[in-house]
Formats: sequence, structure tokens, C-alpha cells
Amino acid sequence: MIRIGRVVNIVGKAPSGKFDAHLAYINMGDSVPECRAYIKELHPSQLIIELVCAILGRGLGLPIPEPVIAYSEDGKKQLFASVEVSYPDLNQFVEMRDTEIINTPQNLIIFNKIAEWSDIVLAITFDELIANGDRNTGNILFDGVSSFTLIDHNLAMRAPFAPYFTINNQLMNIKLLFTKDELSKQRLKNSINQITRDIPKNLIIDVQKCLLSVNGHINIDLLHPIIHFLEERILNLSDITTRKIEVKQKTLC
Ligand SMILES: Nc1ncnc2c1ncn2[C@@H]1O[C@H](COP(=O)(O)OP(=O)(O)OP(=O)(O)O)[C@@H](O)[C@H]1O
Ligand SMILES: [Mg+2]
Repeated sequence: MIRIGRVVNIVGKAPSGKFDAHLAYINMGDSVPECRAYIKELHPSQLIIELVCAILGRGLGLPIPEPVIAYSEDGKKQLFASVEVSYPDLNQFVEMRDTEIINTPQNLIIFNKIAEWSDIVLAITFDELIANGDRNTGNILFDGVSSFTLIDHNLAMRAPFAPYFTINNQLMNIKLLFTKDELSKQRLKNSINQITRDIPKNLIIDVQKCLLSVNGHINIDLLHPIIHFLEERILNLSDITTRKIEVKQKTLC
């Protein structure tokens, strides 16, 4: 079930991002006081992509904030809302030159924490499944110790995009920075393939059911191609992983 809310008050602008996200108080009928969430106005199909990805990722067990369909204060605009997590995005921890990440010892410490994160392989698989090439530092929240939260998926599945195309999987790039030997690479590949096989058969169709359970808020004509893309994409994941993680020599493990 996805919750529907209404913006009651805007707190201020989000610390980063291209889509003019704002922190706001949202009333969802049942929450008193109102819930704080980041809201952004998106193209209608990107709004559905955000919702689909958040529901799907949460269904896989990933830490992704609860997505909400929110309406503007005047009720005229439909917005994407992401319930606020209390820690900042990685821009607060990573040194950048303009938008380029630079190779400093501090940055490597943070990347190593990402590579060691307990959910890293699941998160790599998720980004590949949703074809998300936009996992930039603003789209990962970090508690400064060992917990990460994934946000911002509206640029996943960018059309025109075939289900067998590869994306620049930034989490995989980070993991591979610390996965040098052939045996470790083979293990990583095996783990991604195992996670892919373990994805429940009805998960994607359940995402569709979840969104259609709230009558009248979702455009079915926009939702169907997104669900269809994911169903096709899942069949291609193992091939994509094999193409991406090149292992020179067959190893037993
Ligand atoms: N649920 C959340 N909890 C905490 N902070 C959040 C949350 N959602 C968004 N933010 C903050 O707001 C910023 C902008 O949000 P988001 O990344 O969704 O928007 P964007 O404008 O699409 O960004 P981008 O330019 O990366 O595509 C994030 O980088 C993060 O700092
Ligand atoms: Mg962002």
C-alpha cells in the first residue's frame, strides 16, 4: 500500500540536486504531527519510475525511504515525496572538484565503507535491474558510520533504453575498486547472479498491484511500459553481469 499525502508547509530547499527538491511537512491523514518528507515535481512518467523503484527496492529489502504520492498545497500538482531520513547525503563526506570526485585518501575511506556495506551486492543488482546510471554522491545518504540509504531513482530506465543495455553502475565501480583478484571478482559475479535468481517471481507485478491499489492516482498507460521493461530487464541481468565483470581465468569457489 502506498500512502497519499498533501503538503502543508515547505521547510526549505534540499541541500543538492537538479530537480528543485524541497523539505516539507506532509499530511497523510493518519500522521499527527505531519511527516517530514523531501518533495519534488517530476515529469509524470519519471514520477512513476521513482515510485516503482522505491517500492521495488524496499521489496528487495534495501534501505530506501518510504515513497509517498503527495499533492501540492493547492491540490493541483502531483509530487513525489520521500520520507525524511535523519542523515545527510554523501556530498557532505566526499571531496569534489566541481562535480568530479577526486582521488583523496578521505574519499577512498568512504568508498571502502560503501564497498564493505552489508547491502552492497544487493544495491548493485538493484541499480542494474532498474538501469540506474544516476547513483551520484547526492543520491546516497550516509550516517557517517556504516549505514547507507538509497534515494532518487527518477532518472532510472531512461527512454529510449533497451532492457539488454548496460548502464554505468557506480556502486559496481566502487565495489570493483576493492575487488582486484580474479577469485574475488568471480565471487562478486556469482553473488549478483544468485541475488538475481532469488528475486521473487511476483515481485515486479506486486509493485504494479501496490500502485494500482490507490485508485485514480496512477496513470496505467505510463505504468505498464515501466513494469514491462523491468520484466524484460530481469531476464537480461545475468548476461549483463557476465559482460561487466570480466574474469580472466575460471576459478573454483
Ligand atoms: N528521504 C530523504 N531523506 C534525507 N534527505 C533527502 C531525502 N530525499 C532527498 N534528500 C536530500 O535532497 C537532495 C535532493 O533530492 P533528490 O536527489 O531526490 O533530488 P534531485 O534533484 O533529483 O537530485 P539529482 O540532481 O541528484 O537528480 C538529496 O541529494 C538529499 O540531500
Ligand atoms: Mg539526487
